[in-house]
Amino acid sequence: MKVVNSVLELFGRTPLVKLNKLTQDIKASVYAKMESMNPGASVKDRIGLAMIDDAVKRGVLKPGGTIIEATSGNTGIGIAIAATVKGYKCIFTMTEKVSVEKRRYLQALGADVVICPMTAKHDTPEHYVSVAKRIAEDTPNSLFMYQYNNPSNPEAHYKTTGPELWEQTGGKITHFVGSLGTGGTVSGTGRFLKEKNPKIKIIAADPYGSIFKTYKESGVMTEGTPYLVEGIGQDMLPENVHFKYIDEIINVTDKDSFHMSRRLSREEGIFCGGSTGTNLVAALKVAKGLDENGLVVFVVCDTGERYLSKHHSDEWMREKRLLEKDKVTVGVVFQTKLSGGLPNLVSASPNETIGEALNRLEEYNISLLPVLDDNKSLGSLTEADIMSRIIENPAIIEKKVSELMDKPYPVIDESDDMKHGIQSLKKSPAILVSQYGRIIGILTRIDVLDFV
Ligand SMILES: Cc1ncc(COP(=O)(O)O)c(C=O)c1O
Repeated sequence: MKVVNSVLELFGRTPLVKLNKLTQDIKASVYAKMESMNPGASVKDRIGLAMIDDAVKRGVLKPGGTIIEATSGNTGIGIAIAATVKGYKCIFTMTEKVSVEKRRYLQALGADVVICPMTAKHDTPEHYVSVAKRIAEDTPNSLFMYQYNNPSNPEAHYKTTGPELWEQTGGKITHFVGSLGTGGTVSGTGRFLKEKNPKIKIIAADPYGSIFKTYKESGVMTEGTPYLVEGIGQDMLPENVHFKYIDEIINVTDKDSFHMSRRLSREEGIFCGGSTGTNLVAALKVAKGLDENGLVVFVVCDTGERYLSKHHSDEWMREKRLLEKDKVTVGVVFQTKLSGGLPNLVSASPNETIGEALNRLEEYNISLLPVLDDNKSLGSLTEADIMSRIIENPAIIEKKVSELMDKPYPVIDESDDMKHGIQSLKKSPAILVSQYGRIIGILTRIDVLDFV
């Protein structure tokens, strides 16, 4: 087994994973750059370590010093891991928008965290960058890392992420898709890849509400508007966004980002954050227009565990009105019937008499009965049918149900779409609902109308 001397030796050299299911209608290959497999589970580990090493080299970070940084969490985690190993203290400023998981992670690494208002504009004293600057001025032997203009940030990606992608794809990469937070990932990786082959397209994915796309396309600085994806997009221009290496910026909505992030987890087993969803929406859009020579790499920026209380929670998605309408299943309609206090299943047995079955119809004030034996559906009885037969021949009241029953109702699993249930209800007055192969209830046309 390979042994490393500290966790820092595990930063970078992340795998590329081919997508198989999300790309079924796409000719090009699409690969995920698994930055979530770094020790701090994000793309920002690379710059945390690089910015510290560079600051030490330049003599601006001294032994026992305190590192201050304004972060959406991941850079803080990268810095805090490297700082722990190398013996520095950390203070981070973050906005309220950042998930509680990231905040607690930083605190677990021994860092101090200062939470700033999310609504503060970038040049006001309350903004998290201004607060970080102020803390740095007031803290002896400290250094404000400032990932937004620190050249070690894109440099780390120029030296590591870019060469890894070139090597891992054997120089065949045609498109690189990343998102813009500080700009470090896209600027550094983009510069390296363009130097290797200027034809490689560098695509930036950006949330609607961020200013980057409009600025790149028109040179106009707009006002940013709020969005929910964390860590990417801006309302100002960081120095580390090097537009000259970016060919195209694609805007993505919160809803599309979060749903794509959830799909990557569910369909490919890659558990990721929201900005990865943003990247993947853009990557698939680009890949759709390519032939089999296309090789698209997108960045898996961080792990989904950081967002269990956010977009990986149905409750949160519902609260933000981002959840697609739940599919109406047979089970959903059946649960609604049960909550109305109706009995879930009243049935007749094949060996009892018609008279006994009739009593049950009256007792429960219902008009039809499935005939079940050992949970198997054998037939059915309807009140109207029995009544007309009794009027013709009163003696049948003593006959066995099995002798006079009609055909059985169809059995439909509770997980089936209610559309299938409705198709069956067009031909049959009722359907039986099954769960794990056992009949658990009955739905009539009236039950479905009540649901609607
Ligand atoms: C979750 C997440 N995704 C993507 C990014 C973007 O990376 P970069 O700052 O290199 O542009 C960040 C940056 O903070 C981030 O936190």
